Amino acid sequence: MTFIKMPDYDIYIESNELLNLQKYVKELYHEKKIYVVTDENVNQLYHQKLIHALPFFEVIFVVIKPGEHSKSIETYQKVISELIQKQMKRNHLLIALGGGVVGDLTGFVASTLYRGVKFIQIPTTLLAQVDSSIGGKVGIDLEQGKNLLGSFYRPLLVYIDPAFLETLSKREYANGLAEMIKAGLIGDKKLYHHLKSNEKVGVDEIVMAIQVKRALVLIDPYDHKERMYLNFGHTFGHAIEKKHHYDTYKHGEAISYGMLMALEIGMKRHETHFELYQEVKSLLLERGLVKEPLLKIFDYKDEIVHDKKYLSEGLHFVIVPKVGEVKSIILEDSDLL
Ligand SMILES: NC(=O)c1ccc[n+]([C@@H]2O[C@H](COP(=O)([O-])OP(=O)(O)OC[C@H]3O[C@@H](n4cnc5c(N)ncnc54)[C@H](O)[C@@H]3O)[C@@H](O)[C@H]2O)c1
Repeated sequence: MTFIKMPDYDIYIESNELLNLQKYVKELYHEKKIYVVTDENVNQLYHQKLIHALPFFEVIFVVIKPGEHSKSIETYQKVISELIQKQMKRNHLLIALGGGVVGDLTGFVASTLYRGVKFIQIPTTLLAQVDSSIGGKVGIDLEQGKNLLGSFYRPLLVYIDPAFLETLSKREYANGLAEMIKAGLIGDKKLYHHLKSNEKVGVDEIVMAIQVKRALVLIDPYDHKERMYLNFGHTFGHAIEKKHHYDTYKHGEAISYGMLMALEIGMKRHETHFELYQEVKSLLLERGLVKEPLLKIFDYKDEIVHDKKYLSEGLHFVIVPKVGEVKSIILEDSDLL
């Protein structure tokens, strides 16, 4: 078992079919009822496994539709109503069992229902295991853009079991690799080089990606400065997702195009070498995360003006001059031509 300590909670990483989950939950929670939010796909695959893993508890499920469209006000209200109708009380525990959509939505429900209830993340996608379940950001999308309504809310515990990844589609697996490639590019050369030469990842690489995020979250928990480095590729990534109505591109695919756009801006600024751009492009093409012809910066220019990170002094934008090196710039109109 690998164990990563966050200031207020622990992250357990172990590939053993949820064997120790009940033990960890019992240490932190002393009621009988547990409420689980999951999506239809995960429910079909893991409903019984979760019940078997928590025999001491009465486990009550709320199941949502899969996909980004569920990170909405409507689903948020539906989940809250169902939890109340199923007698969830303030002292009960909520578990998010699923990918980043379930994690972000459930975390936001947990942070607001009865002004906050206990919450555990069990991430089941690679993206959620290496990224979205870590760092306490939870939220939902609005019509005007992604993650516009949200909060910082820490779970009691994050339980990562890489065995969940065995049922992921190739596309979803690659989706998670995109956030790992980002983590490598901004903060861990060794991880980046591993991902360049291997399609599969194991516990070690999951831990490396989490450590990159952890380090930045610890310095800047509320996203004022260093944590923004994690947004490498995300300014354009979010614009791409929004412009295509969250249908065409998965999050990891959108941020892959976004990373290439950010590297291109780095090149225009004479900060990033063409060789790095080419190398990352080949890697993302090989993993099926981007396709040629690539999306173009100019076509997403209007969307990024509405980015929530557009502060009064302009849009802070992250570039990577070299692998493992990161820099924040203020985006100029000339960068977008
Ligand atoms: N909070 C954060 O810090 C943070 C960071 C990065 C991304 N995110 C958010 O994460 C979301 C994307 O997360 P995602 O990529 O996990 O998407 P997702 O939750 O939609 O999951 C992707 C698909 O995989 C299916 N699935 C989940 N686990 C499975 C399993 N073990 N086997 C088979 N199928 C499985 C789901 O049903 C879904 O269809 C986005 O909304 C993004 O904004 C949040």
